[in-house]
Amino acid sequence: MALKSKTFKLAPSILASDLSCLGTEVQKLEKAGIEVLHFDIMDGNFVPNITFGFPVLQALRKKTKLIFDAHLMINNADRYLEDFKKAGCDWLSVHVEACSHLHGTVQKIQNLGMTAGVAINPGTSLDELNGILDFADFILLMSVNPGFAGQSFIENSFERVRELKKRIGKRKIKIQIDGGIKKENIREAVSAGCDILVMGTGFFSFKDYKIALIELSKEATRGD
Ligand code: DX5
Ligand code: ZN
Repeated sequence: MALKSKTFKLAPSILASDLSCLGTEVQKLEKAGIEVLHFDIMDGNFVPNITFGFPVLQALRKKTKLIFDAHLMINNADRYLEDFKKAGCDWLSVHVEACSHLHGTVQKIQNLGMTAGVAINPGTSLDELNGILDFADFILLMSVNPGFAGQSFIENSFERVRELKKRIGKRKIKIQIDGGIKKENIREAVSAGCDILVMGTGFFSFKDYKIALIELSKEATRGD
């Protein structure tokens, strides 16, 4: 499944939502006009935090038709790709730092009918993506170190987006940015070339998600 939209999409990271009533949160997001839900899957091994897994995804899958975008911050992702598909994921991203056979993993994700993303940490050289740009559907560029919502945006990240955009050239591959995106920097994120903006605390600090979507979209395209 290729990503179609020419404009950017906001993907709220539900890790920063009210986790005590996830079903309601997800339905509120759908009603507000959100199209993509970002799930941060952490294993307490690749990153120093543990979040949620298949039972939570499966339960939420019954509540919404939204695109499920699972960001795997786990070792041994290969072992679980089919289970993520079965749990209802549409997009799956794996970390370049955690995969020893990245091309094969991307291929498996796509063969399972999912959109394949490759995530890269702030401290990893973009050169590590050289061999995968012809194959992945999107690159998830981390603008914080993975593990927690609510961290500060790492300042050189937009430079990295611009550099990545150059390297992508004419390829159809999209750029997703993740970490510390908020109203104050959303405009720059879009103008730097980000297609999908993951937002945790910057989104859920709004009480009304419809207003959040309107205000953030207006800010993102200000001056266009
Ligand atoms: C960090 C996660 C992010 C995070 C985003 O490991 O990948 O998706 O939840 O949260 P904010 O927008 O608050 O940085
Ligand atoms: Zn994420």
